[in-house]
Amino acid sequence: MRDEIMWWMSRITIMLTSLFLSFSLAAQAYAAEIQMGKDGMLVFAPCELTINVEDTVTFVNNELPPHNVMFADNPELSHGDLLFSAGETFEVTFHQAGDYHFQCDPHAGAGMKGVIPVSYTHLRANETVLDLVCRLLLEKK
Ligand code: CU
Repeated sequence: MRDEIMWWMSRITIMLTSLFLSFSLAAQAYAAEIQMGKDGMLVFAPCELTINVEDTVTFVNNELPPHNVMFADNPELSHGDLLFSAGETFEVTFHQAGDYHFQCDPHAGAGMKGVIPVSYTHLRANETVLDLVCRLLLEKK
């Protein structure tokens, strides 16, 4: 009898611990990164990056500058100032779902373009379905 109680106690402890861990993981802010110019190419890398609403993307100036980032339909998110030095960064946070198309003005002709699909239900690389459910419950979206 005593062994059985101990067994249940340990099971409950494990379940509560994993539930707590799931919630704390889900509550963490998520940061994604896009390189501007990579491997000697005038590209955004990655050129397509799916994220969730309220996620922040960091654009990192890398190779073959200068670069900027212009969102065709969302000028308020654009960063028109050219970045000249490797390692310079700026951040963009997305508050609404949708497909955000962007380009680098000096290099759009060379194909330096990308898209950021923003959704509520994108399963992140390090996320389980339980994490996703917890995140949606916590953030109410
Ligand atoms: Cu560029």
